[in-house]
Amino acid sequence: MSSPPVVHSVHHPTSGTWTHVVADPASGRAAVVDPVLDFDVASGRIDPGPARALLARIGQLGLEIAVILETHAHADHLSAGGWLRDRLGVPLAIGAGIIEVQRTFKRLLALGDDFPAEGREFDRLLRDGERVDVGTLAVRVIATPGHTSDSLAYLAGDALLVGDTMFAPAAGTARCDFPGGSAATLYRSIRRLYELPDATRVFLCHDYPAAGAVAIAQAFMRDEKDSNVHLRHDTNEDDYVAVREQRDATLAVPTLLWPAIQFNIRGGRLPPADALGRRYLKLPAYFDAD
Ligand SMILES: [Fe+2]
Repeated sequence: MSSPPVVHSVHHPTSGTWTHVVADPASGRAAVVDPVLDFDVASGRIDPGPARALLARIGQLGLEIAVILETHAHADHLSAGGWLRDRLGVPLAIGAGIIEVQRTFKRLLALGDDFPAEGREFDRLLRDGERVDVGTLAVRVIATPGHTSDSLAYLAGDALLVGDTMFAPAAGTARCDFPGGSAATLYRSIRRLYELPDATRVFLCHDYPAAGAVAIAQAFMRDEKDSNVHLRHDTNEDDYVAVREQRDATLAVPTLLWPAIQFNIRGGRLPPADALGRRYLKLPAYFDAD
């Protein structure tokens, strides 16, 4: 039995994303979960600043990265998964459901044949029940569709990297209105997570603190079951779906949805360059003229 993992968490205030570094104390090896880049949508410039800072922190901690794990194709920030993979030479893994996400957005964005939508941009496509070894840590893959069809949680000892399923108890659960999302499916995914022990440390993918408040990186499963504002242990599916869908109807499209998805479904890379070396991202446009 290996010792519990040590989890180092870094918050990206612009997107409210938590990047977690899950370290195996026995071997000094670690997994990076959901690394982030900065993106200025007005200029189109991508800045690896947050990923550079993460690498510096990993160096200070004396950790050796074994794998980069994505919990899903994010719609609110650009992933540093591809950037880190190129620098560290370690595999980049995501849920096998990425193929469905790629196909959906290939259709919505009319992407060309240069994008086969077969998951080839990633080194490992993970399925429910699979194991990823990080030193002596066995990280278990738990499929958690609902927010997106490729969503995963990762269980390492008593640490659950929960992705976009539930947030801190006071913040509820993830939205389910993106293409391929489903509130009923997310309900069932979270019910599965609620079977884990109360003392499970739940490491969050996001927290959006109010001005002056500190972002929350981790909750306990007990508190999620007892007091998650959208889905407690005694919430039934119909009630949850009604609350979730009502709330989703009020939410704006994330500012970076289209650029983030195009970049992230390509494994954290821009589309291929044209003959002059220029790269472009697409934006579907709708003219509500009438
Ligand atoms: Fe997300």
